[in-house]
Amino acid sequence: MSIPTVNPTPTSITAAFDLPKPPGVSWRVRSQQVVDYEVSMTRGLLSTSNSTFAHACGADGKRRTRCLVVVDDAVEQLYGERLRAYFSAWRIAHNWRVVPGDENTKQLDTALGLVDDMSSMGILRRAEKIVAIGGGVVLDVVGMTASLYRRGIPYIRVPTTLIGQVDAGIGVKTGINHGQHKNRLGTYCAPETALIDPEFLRTVDRRHINNGLAEIIKMALIKDSQLFDLLEATVASIDPETLADCGPAGGEILSRSIAGMLDELEPNLWEKVLERAVDYGHTFSPSLELRADPPLLHGEAVAVDMAICVALARNRGLLSEQDADRALTLMNAAGLPLTHPVFTAELLERALEDAVKHRDGYQRMPLTAGIGSAVFVNDITADELRAALSFVAHRDHRAADSDVLESAR
Ligand SMILES: NC(=O)c1ccc[n+]([C@@H]2O[C@H](COP(=O)([O-])OP(=O)(O)OC[C@H]3O[C@@H](n4cnc5c(N)ncnc54)[C@H](O)[C@@H]3O)[C@@H](O)[C@H]2O)c1
Ligand SMILES: [Zn+2]
Repeated sequence: MSIPTVNPTPTSITAAFDLPKPPGVSWRVRSQQVVDYEVSMTRGLLSTSNSTFAHACGADGKRRTRCLVVVDDAVEQLYGERLRAYFSAWRIAHNWRVVPGDENTKQLDTALGLVDDMSSMGILRRAEKIVAIGGGVVLDVVGMTASLYRRGIPYIRVPTTLIGQVDAGIGVKTGINHGQHKNRLGTYCAPETALIDPEFLRTVDRRHINNGLAEIIKMALIKDSQLFDLLEATVASIDPETLADCGPAGGEILSRSIAGMLDELEPNLWEKVLERAVDYGHTFSPSLELRADPPLLHGEAVAVDMAICVALARNRGLLSEQDADRALTLMNAAGLPLTHPVFTAELLERALEDAVKHRDGYQRMPLTAGIGSAVFVNDITADELRAALSFVAHRDHRAADSDVLESAR
C-alpha cells in the first residue's frame, strides 16, 4: 500500500493539475471607482428653514439621526450656537469636537484623536456622517481621518474660509503635515458633498481673505483672463463684507474661481497626470511655507512662489513686461507679499528638487504663457531662479530696505 505524500513537491502538483510552471501565471484585477459629489453654493445654510445641510447629514427632521461634527474653534465661537440650534431643529444628535484652526492641528495626533471619537461614538460605517466645518486645516485633517477610518467613511465639508471655499473644500485631497513638509501624508478622498455659504466669510479677518485671494489670483493667471480683469478692477473693494454679500463682483469672483478649479480637477482627480496647472505657485511654497518664522499662511507662501513664477515667465519671454507688471501689481494690491527672506536662491533650489520628486522625476513646472493660460517647463536653472528672485525683490514695494533684497543677491 502506498503512503500518501503529505507535502507534495511543486513538480508533483504541476504534474497532477497541469499548471504552468512558475513564473508564468498572473491575475489582473481591474475596477473603476466612480467619483460623484456635489459642490453647492448656498445662502442661509444655518437657517433652520433651509433643509440643504440637514439632508446632506442624512436627516429628514422626523427620524433621529446622528453625526460627528468636527468644528474649527473660531467657527465654534462665532457660529456654535446657531449650528447647535440647527442640528437640534433637524433632530440630528451630534457628537461635537472642536479643533483649533491652526496649521499645528494638521498632524497625526489630531487624526488619531478623531479616530478615538468615532470609535467611542460607534459611528455607523455608511449611514452616519462626519461633518467638517471650518477652514482648510480642519477640512484636510478630517478628510484624511474619514478616508482612513475603517478604510473610508462618508464625510461632508462645510468650508468657512475663503481658501476653504475656493480650494481646500472643493477637491478630493486631504492631508497632514510632517516635519517641515506640508501635506507629507494624505489621501484622495471625495466628500459626499461640499456646502459653501459665503455668509461665513463675513467674520474672516482681512489677512485670511487676502490669503484666499492668492488662490483666486492663481486661477486667473493660469486659466481665466476675464477673472483677472475683474480682480484688477475690483481688488480695492474686495473685503469680507462684499464677498459675504455675494454682490455682482463678489459672487462672480467666487463662482468663477470654484468653477475654474473644478474644471481643472475633474479630469485628473487622482493626479495621474502630474502636469497640473493648479500647481502654479505650489512648486517652492510647500517646502518653504513652514520654514518662515513666524510661519507664512498658505496663500502668502503661494503668492511669493507665484511672484517668482511671474519673473521666470517674464525672463523667458512667456509673459510680456506689461503683463508681469500687472500680475505683481495685483498681488500687491491684494495685500499679498511678493518676497520673503526664507525664499533664498539656495532654498528655492532645494525646494525645486523636492518638487521634482513629488512630480515623479521632472520639474513639470507650470508657468503663465500670457495671462490666462499655462505651459509646463522642465529646465529651470539655478541662474534663472537667482535672476527671478532679484527681479521680484526690486518690484516688491514692501521689500525696500529689507533683507529681502540682500537675500536675492
Ligand atoms: N486639500 C486641498 O486641496 C487644499 C487646498 C488648499 C489649501 N489647503 C490647506 O488649507 C489650509 C489653509 O486653509 P485656511 O486658509 O482656511 O486656514 P485655516 O484653516 O487655518 O483657517 C484660518 C483661520 O480662520 C479661522 N476661521 C475659520 N473660519 C472662520 C470664519 N468663518 N470666521 C472667522 N475665522 C474663521 C480659523 O480658526 C483659523 O484661525 C492649509 O493647511 C493648506 O495646506 C488644502
Ligand atoms: Zn494651495
